[in-house]
Amino acid sequence: MNTSDDQVAEKARARRSIAVISHPDAGKSTLTEALLLHASAIGEAGAVHGKAGRRGTVSDWMDMERARGISVNSTVIQFPFNDAVINLVDTPGHADFSEDTFRVLTAVDAAIMLVDASKGLEAQTMKLFDVCRERGLPVITVINKWDRPGKEALALVDEIAERTGLRSMPKTWPVGEAGFFHGLLDPQHHTMQRFRRTPGGTTKVIADELSDEQAETEYPKEWVTAKEEASLLEGDEGFYDREAFLAQEATPMFFGSAVQNIGIEDLLGFIADEAPYPGARKDIEDQAHPVDGDFSAYVFKIQTGMDRAHRDQIAFARVCSGVFERGMVATHAQTGKPFATKYAQKAFGRERETVDTAWPGDVVGLVNASALRPGDTLYEGQSAVTYPRLPHFAPEHFREARCADAGKHKQFRRGIHQLGEEGIVQVLHSERRGAQHPVLGAVGPMQFDVVVERMRGEFNAPITLDMLDYTFACQIDHAAGEALTGHRDCEVVMREDGSLLGLFPNPWKLRSVKRQYPDITLEPMRGIA
Ligand code: G4P
Repeated sequence: MNTSDDQVAEKARARRSIAVISHPDAGKSTLTEALLLHASAIGEAGAVHGKAGRRGTVSDWMDMERARGISVNSTVIQFPFNDAVINLVDTPGHADFSEDTFRVLTAVDAAIMLVDASKGLEAQTMKLFDVCRERGLPVITVINKWDRPGKEALALVDEIAERTGLRSMPKTWPVGEAGFFHGLLDPQHHTMQRFRRTPGGTTKVIADELSDEQAETEYPKEWVTAKEEASLLEGDEGFYDREAFLAQEATPMFFGSAVQNIGIEDLLGFIADEAPYPGARKDIEDQAHPVDGDFSAYVFKIQTGMDRAHRDQIAFARVCSGVFERGMVATHAQTGKPFATKYAQKAFGRERETVDTAWPGDVVGLVNASALRPGDTLYEGQSAVTYPRLPHFAPEHFREARCADAGKHKQFRRGIHQLGEEGIVQVLHSERRGAQHPVLGAVGPMQFDVVVERMRGEFNAPITLDMLDYTFACQIDHAAGEALTGHRDCEVVMREDGSLLGLFPNPWKLRSVKRQYPDITLEPMRGIA
């Protein structure tokens, strides 16, 4: 295929690569499904079903894919909307796998943060906001479940401002408080989208548009309140300032109900029109690599055993520049070795579909990619490019790993090392415990279950894990490491890259160590470090 730089730039400009993130149960899966239904079948998409109706999602989605011409897989869903091509990159539902979520956030250009109207900002919401800030990712906020009683809209705006520093820019504003929802105000144009249940329908809603006068006649109190409340948030640039959104100073805010399909079209329209498209990405030398350069991609996730029969490994890579063409031989920047892309896939899960071409912002699944690790770069052409490695995430749970079968030490070492490289868990070495007993660090304890299972099933090396009572880590330099080694209130461990961490069981022990060593800077790691 002959592609010009202009064509690559044009394809990139149409791409919107985005992740839906939230505290568990805020409605991420419901919203994802609603976005899909809406993008592919406006009019038909009424209510989407909750979890019970969604079991076996992959196969449901496969049927949906066939029926509606969209491509769906468990990692990325690509569909056109208006003039854009949206790549919705999936994140794990369980908070224990938030390290995976953090990695996915390195592969997208914006995030949709879903907030449960009755709960406001929850623990995971805050962590995710932190990660987005650290990654420089613009965030779109969606206040979900407005069909149920919840907090006041302005209280949520204040909470977001106080706890994240982000100014809210209402793109829609609710008419009627949470639980008594009549529709959405467009603050810019003073029109109302009204939502009503279909007669006899349980959750299906119909929408019509009311003018300012009509809305005031029909909902005198709620309409005036909505307009007044929204007007408090009007800034110098009006209700919306794209620069502030892209600079992560402000967050466009939407209200709705994912389960009732309310507010979805506004959100999709916004993504297509306003969400950022892929731009130049900086390499390790801080050189921006333009999207219309030669092909380059970086691996953000490895998934093993998607096809149990073959125990295969798929590396998910985000195309950063140029065009990906299946069959091309790229260079693996970390080893300098060629990497053949004969088996590249678009649709994963039970059915697979080969991908032939992909553009900046797209995600390709590279099969039999056992040489690749998260954070690795692939490129084509003469000029080598290496993107920065994935950041480390603050581990909060720690276990000591032991080989449970004395005859399997070799397999044990190999397995632990590989799982560490894949980013399944962080592998830490402690002088105190010796090389045979590495410390495993995780963001969520379910990561350890994956380790136990894979060590047994894949590496034939059953392990036992002993819980360690550390709850946080501080990054330390080598001088501090020497000073603190052997200290009874702290354990010094080394990552595989040679950097050091001090592990502490609680803030009191940290304080006491700090008092003893005032010259050592000890700050607990948070989010990305
Ligand atoms: P998650 O992926 O973020 O974990 O959330 P998920 O979509 O699974 O939704 C969690 C629960 O919240 C589900 O209820 C879902 O139906 C409900 N939900 C999602 N969006 C809305 C909304 O806009 N309004 C209301 N009222 N509920 C919503 P569940 O009881 O766990 O499952 P189900 O029995 O309803 O299927």
